Amino acid sequence: MIIAGSKTQSLAARVSNLSGMELASVEYNRFPDGEQLVRIKDESDGYVVIASTPADEDYVELIQILDACSEREVKLVIPYMGYARQDDSFREGEPISARALARAISMYTDEVYTINIHNRDIHRWFECDSEDLDASRLLGESFSEEMDNPLVISPDEGARDMAREAASAIGCSHDYLEKERISGDEVELSPRDVDLDGMDVLLVDDIISTGGTMTEATRMVKRHGASSVYIGCIHPVFSGNSIISIYDSGVESIRSTDTLSTSHSSISVSNLITEKAIN
Ligand code: R5P
Repeated sequence: MIIAGSKTQSLAARVSNLSGMELASVEYNRFPDGEQLVRIKDESDGYVVIASTPADEDYVELIQILDACSEREVKLVIPYMGYARQDDSFREGEPISARALARAISMYTDEVYTINIHNRDIHRWFECDSEDLDASRLLGESFSEEMDNPLVISPDEGARDMAREAASAIGCSHDYLEKERISGDEVELSPRDVDLDGMDVLLVDDIISTGGTMTEATRMVKRHGASSVYIGCIHPVFSGNSIISIYDSGVESIRSTDTLSTSHSSISVSNLITEKAIN
């Protein structure tokens, strides 16, 4: 059976429809002091748990689900893994949060799947079989019809492979921008040697959080002559005023996958999960 994390119910339902696997009935409760408690009401010999973890409370819920499934075969799909950007100890005395969470989760599971995790090296800390699935092509496929003169660009070198995959789905070229982070919500971007004049640019990235990166990238490609800009991301974290800020920079549309449920999550990773993690 499939067990859905409370923030990943729509995606889990889509996977259930596609795969024919039943959705387990789950109660998510909270005590008056704020503590959480889950209860899995359907028995099965094995479970596929599908749970994104954007917030601390999602990790508590996930560990509770996994503990309740002890003794059973468990496959875990974490479509969006929070804390993945904390993939190093940046100052003395800091933990490597992504490592801590990967170890804690994997002690309960037989297999773990992530989708475009921020840094694939995190997988070395899962103490079980694990795989990162790539949804970048879906971004390209989603926008391919509306761009006459397409070009795919990632706002930094780290997302260059995503740009290449999205571009191959469209059948166009790709490039990336040079990015320097000035502060938590400020980045400085500069173009490389690519002609943007008259191009319909699709900007792709793994995460949109504050929107600072995409806002700056949009302004930059427009300054260099792009005629229209579309935004595609895998994980719509969308903190603060990110949506307003990105639209304000002049984009045509923003689309993301449904690793997190938002009003922009129109591209589903349910097929990818069903094909790679379930069958
Ligand atoms: C950073 O390396 C990531 O790939 C994203 O570019 C970043 O997380 C986006 O964050 P924000 O929306 O806050 O600029």
